[in-house]
Amino acid sequence: MTIDVRSDTVTRPTPAMLEAMMAAPVGDDVYGEDETVNALQTLAAETFGMDAALFCPSGTMTNQIAIKLHTQPGDEVICDALSHTYLYEGGGIAFHSGASVRTLPDTHGRFTAKHVKDNVNNRNDAHLPWTRLVTVENTVNKAGGCCWELSELKAIRQTCDEHSLGLHLDGARLYNAIVAKNHKPSEFGTLFHTISLCLSKGLGAPVGSLLLGSREHIARAHRLRKLMGGGMRQAGYLAAAGLYGLQHHVTRLADDHAKARHVASEIASLPYVASVLPVETNIVIFNLIDTVPVDGYLRYLSDNGVRAGSMGKQTVRFVFHLDVSDAQTSQLIEVARRFA
Ligand SMILES: Cc1ncc(COP(=O)(O)O)c(C=O)c1O
Repeated sequence: MTIDVRSDTVTRPTPAMLEAMMAAPVGDDVYGEDETVNALQTLAAETFGMDAALFCPSGTMTNQIAIKLHTQPGDEVICDALSHTYLYEGGGIAFHSGASVRTLPDTHGRFTAKHVKDNVNNRNDAHLPWTRLVTVENTVNKAGGCCWELSELKAIRQTCDEHSLGLHLDGARLYNAIVAKNHKPSEFGTLFHTISLCLSKGLGAPVGSLLLGSREHIARAHRLRKLMGGGMRQAGYLAAAGLYGLQHHVTRLADDHAKARHVASEIASLPYVASVLPVETNIVIFNLIDTVPVDGYLRYLSDNGVRAGSMGKQTVRFVFHLDVSDAQTSQLIEVARRFA
């Protein structure tokens, strides 16, 4: 059987998750009448100590709705140069919000309050876009799944308050950070104005993300979701998978992290591996030496039953998840060792 470590989005619902989906009471969610969607939204909002939540088809949608909530065309968003909202959402910030982006270079996914402060435009200068929003990603996918320190996030929130900026969290893998760093969800709920939380990554649901925020933000988000074509009808079948994931698949994320650490330590000494990013959660990112082309390496892995992805020139990514067993992890290491 193929070992698929391209992403933690590739998981299939477990039998128990499927059972929960099939048993879900449903209704028309565009009218707010789907009991299971409502239960999922209530559970998530309560868990994070936020007013309300909205179930959406994808993390891209929850991020883009959030950015639109915080900005007007002509405003500017500050984010790290590696952030998903900027790199991998199809230019959505320009398309949906008409906002410009100030990327912070060389901060490798995690920046400081000073970086924010130094990049806020002067609102009295008519030449400049108004800085309105800071987006943070936790864990940082492209920086190897690393986690933020709460102390830095608190400092950033303070700077945002001083400059009247919104603070949004792309928490596609927030539960990986919560488990790895032993945080409480509510610690993020009090720091961020809006949070996007993916259910279809480490938590194992087939579809869905939640946007969390104030009652006013979520009421406006409801309208924006419809505008973007994301209003779903009997969505409770999908929400049931997310509910199941939140209730049963959080603590087990530690297993994925242990597998990632193990694989990273095994491959670090292989002669064709130039460097491996430190592993904090479920992602292993490593660089091949210059003489090994990444395409050839990925083809070799694929020919030997391992599907992996690249994150740029010479860079390979393995992501561990619910559907990678201990035996497959050992097999993956064996395949990596045999590469000549
Ligand atoms: C960090 C991050 N944010 C957002 C997303 C978007 O999620 P979706 O694929 O559900 O649109 C992803 C997807 O991989 C991601 O890795």
